[in-house]
Formats: sequence, C-alpha cells, structure tokens
Amino acid sequence: MEMRRCGKSGIEISPVGIGCWSYGGGDYWGPQSQSDVTTVAHAAMDAGINFFDTAEGYNHGRSESALGLALKGRRHKAVIGTKISTPDPSRIRERCEASLERLQTDYIDIYMVHWPHDEFPIDESMAELTKLKEDGLIRAIGVSNFGISQLTAALNTGTELAVNQLCYNLLSRAIEIELLPLCQKNNIGILGYMPLLQGILTGKYKSASEIPPTHSRFRHFRDDRPMANHGEKGAEEEVFKTLESIREIAEGEQIPMSRLAIAWTMARSGITCMLVGTRNVDELTENLHAIKYTPSKDVLKRLDILTAPLLEKMGANPDYFTGKRIR
Ligand SMILES: NC(=O)c1ccc[n+]([C@@H]2O[C@H](COP(=O)([O-])OP(=O)(O)OC[C@H]3O[C@@H](n4cnc5c(N)ncnc54)[C@H](OP(=O)(O)O)[C@@H]3O)[C@@H](O)[C@H]2O)c1
Repeated sequence: MEMRRCGKSGIEISPVGIGCWSYGGGDYWGPQSQSDVTTVAHAAMDAGINFFDTAEGYNHGRSESALGLALKGRRHKAVIGTKISTPDPSRIRERCEASLERLQTDYIDIYMVHWPHDEFPIDESMAELTKLKEDGLIRAIGVSNFGISQLTAALNTGTELAVNQLCYNLLSRAIEIELLPLCQKNNIGILGYMPLLQGILTGKYKSASEIPPTHSRFRHFRDDRPMANHGEKGAEEEVFKTLESIREIAEGEQIPMSRLAIAWTMARSGITCMLVGTRNVDELTENLHAIKYTPSKDVLKRLDILTAPLLEKMGANPDYFTGKRIR
C-alpha cells in the first residue's frame, strides 16, 4: 500500500487509518467487543493499514486500553496516534505516561492536542510536548481541530507540527476554504476524521429524525435535535438532497455509498490519511475496497459540484460540532 508522510516528521502512514473512538465501548457508540477490536487491528495490519487513531478521552481511556491489547506483539509495526484532552502544561507528562501505560507501549508515534484550549498558553503546552519528544516518549507532535489563528499561534512557537486532525467528508468540506491550504503551505499533514459523518454517508438514514441524537448534533442539523449545541438552523433539506445525489452516483458506479465517500476524501490533494471508525471486520473488508477504488475525474467533478451548495451554505467554519471552538 502507498504510504504518506506526516509533515516533516518522517513518519509514514497508510492513506486510511483505523478510527478507534468506539473501542472499549461507551455511551456514544454503545458496546464494542474486544474480540472485534483485536480482529480488526490484525486484519487491518495484514492488509497494509498501519495507522490507529485513539485519544485519552475516548471512553475514559478504554479506547487506548483496547487498542494496546489488540496490538500486543505487533505494536512496533503500527503507528499510534493519540490525543491529550486538555493541554495543561503542568499535567502533560503525567497524562502522556498514563496513555503509554494504557497503550502498553513506551512511545507514542503522534501525540496530538485534541482541541484548542485558550486557557493554557500555547507556548507552554508546546514546550512541554517538545520535552516529551526530546525524552523519547513521543515521536511527533500534532494538533487536532486547530483553526487558522490557533494553528498560526502554535506554529509561531517554533514547534514542528506533524499533523492537524480535522473533520472532512462530502458533507463537511469547510477545511478546503482556508485550513487545508495553510497546512499544505506549512507542510503539516492532515488526518481527516469522520469520512462517513458517523454513518450518515452510508445512506442508511432517510430523514434527520432517524439519525441517533449522537450523530444528529452536528451543525448540519437543526439545533433542536436532542444533543445539538450549536444554536444554528442547520441545512437538513440540503443534506438529504445532497445524499440523494451521492446515492445516484454510487449506484451508477455499482458501489456502496460509503466506498464512494471514503474514496472521494482520499483523492483530495493535501489529505494524508482518512480515519474511518471501523467496528468489525465486515466494515473493514468493505472499507479496504475504498483504498482500491479510484473515482474517475468525471465522478470527482460531479461530486464536487453537487456538494458545493451545502459547502456554500455551511461556510468556512470547520467546527461541525458547536461552531465555536475552532478559530
Ligand atoms: N479529533 C477529533 O476531534 C475527532 C472527532 C471525531 C472522530 N475522530 C477520529 O476519527 C475517527 C473516525 O470518525 P468517526 O468514527 O466518528 O466517524 P466515521 O468514520 O465517519 O463513521 C464511523 C462509523 O460508521 C460506521 N461504518 C464504518 N464503516 C462502515 C461501512 N463500511 N458500512 C457501514 N457503516 C460503516 C460505523 O458505525 P456503526 O457500525 O455503528 O454503524 C462506524 O463506527 C474516530 O474513530 C476518531 O478516531 C476524531
């Protein structure tokens, strides 16, 4: 499998990575068996996927623990990305050490700040992360959900950033407007998350009310959806119109919508790796097809055109959760 480099770090990862948010099981994704996690991890590595994305915040650390268990014996062939929730400089080292223990490893390949936190001075957070790198606890420093001004501030500290992890899919293209070009200009890899918008781009929902509250809280949907916290009107009509047009293209290509959605993200220039939440080996098997399927120029162009009105309506804000945290 073709490998892609994460910025200047020298770390090379597969164009699709395994998103481990559900691992360990919890309120958001429901139960997740360890046997499925282990089977997916081994089958993914056998197929050439080497990147696994987790976070200390996923299921209170259980995602890291489940991944650590699954990678036992093969850890050194894997590239692990994990994230610190709050980059409090006085606690960064202890948090990193706790992640290392859960992951059953003595180094993290890419250690990312999960979300920007203005309450902690970025230069102090970056200085602590740099010490972890110098001491060999982590191989590279990354950020996640950092917008233009937040990324600029982080870069101004002089820290070498391997990646910025950002939401990217056919219904969430905001990063194309400003952030993706800024990352490209500074040779920062982009790890795209939610290529299926948490299952919505598989086409399994016919209306917004069918979508579980955890997945209808995004700015695409009305603010009166049970878990929404963005204060916006959403764009539900446009979302379902767009999904219908994507479905037609997938049918024309005789492939599942999920494959088309993942392959489209991977085809975009500037994207290093797409993280796909993969809960079992059936999903993995299907998602591996996305790596081999290359959409034609015509298909890419049609997808660009049909998703453009939604992009225009939702604008350049890449925070699809609350709309307030990425600047
Ligand atoms: N940095 C951040 O703030 C951030 C935010 C979100 C996500 N992430 C990372 O990105 C990863 C991916 O995002 P995500 O898991 O939230 O969303 P996603 O990848 O868009 O969707 C994953 C979900 O889609 C379903 N699915 C996967 N493959 C499928 C297939 N072939 N056919 C049908 N359904 C399929 C599965 O759910 P079901 O089996 O339940 O249907 C799976 O859990 C996460 O695991 C996490 O590592 C990072």
